[in-house]
Amino acid sequence: MDLPRHHTIRDGDQRIVNPFTAEKLAVLGRAIRLRPGGTLLDLASGRGELLCTWARDHHISGTGVDLSTVAVEMSRRRADELGVSDRVTFVHGDAGGYVADRPVDVAACIGATWIGDGVNGTIELLERSLRPGGMLLIGEPYWRLDPPDQETVEACHAQHRDDFDDLAGLVRRFQRQGWDVVEWVLADPDSWDRYSAPHWLTIRRWLDENPDDELAGAFRDELTGDPLRHVLRREFLGWGVFALLKR
Ligand SMILES: C[S@@+](CC[C@H](N)C(=O)[O-])C[C@H]1O[C@@H](n2cnc3c(N)ncnc32)[C@H](O)[C@@H]1O
Repeated sequence: MDLPRHHTIRDGDQRIVNPFTAEKLAVLGRAIRLRPGGTLLDLASGRGELLCTWARDHHISGTGVDLSTVAVEMSRRRADELGVSDRVTFVHGDAGGYVADRPVDVAACIGATWIGDGVNGTIELLERSLRPGGMLLIGEPYWRLDPPDQETVEACHAQHRDDFDDLAGLVRRFQRQGWDVVEWVLADPDSWDRYSAPHWLTIRRWLDENPDDELAGAFRDELTGDPLRHVLRREFLGWGVFALLKR
């Protein structure tokens, strides 16, 4: 099982596959007051940037699980590069249903809550790996502004307005499930740009080099349409990582 090829092509050499900059990731690592020797499980860990940089900066150890062989390989290379490969492990596989052998201090799913069929299910999944008193990190989109039409909904990677909460709705959802929201770091239009805009140059270069590839037509359409969709996305769609402690 692997991630479809078009995702890997589009994300190019981006280390963070979400509307978060390296600075925001570092702010989050400091904000949640990680302790040296702490343990972290990251489900859908992508290219491993969270685990690798936090292992370097906060002396934690941990495991990342991701469906993409390319992402797992990039994560291992990044761990070598940052000198933390003795403390972080990257596993290739489906994270839906993955439970750590030993309970961890922090369990995270950043921008992939479909692995647990949505926010509620992903919280339940992560909790199965968490020590009592441990912290959850959930990265999730929310509506910054109410989308006025279906064009805006679809530009924001949703099918229905109800696919996402607004920020207050997301906080209430966490609280209803029995968790205190104890920290957050939010994306902003500029950090959205740093996620989406690199896709366009990556796609354009790829198209120049692979004009006859079977994906060329779809990528040509995406390169024409996505900057316009992104005009809507950067205004209407918020995204953040929320730190939760069980009540
Ligand atoms: C939006 S990216 C987020 C990656 C990373 N958390 C980050 O913030 O950079 C989603 C990731 O989920 C992974 N993924 C998708 N479905 C998965 C599954 N069922 N199990 C594990 N990983 C999955 C993809 O390969 C991709 O790396």
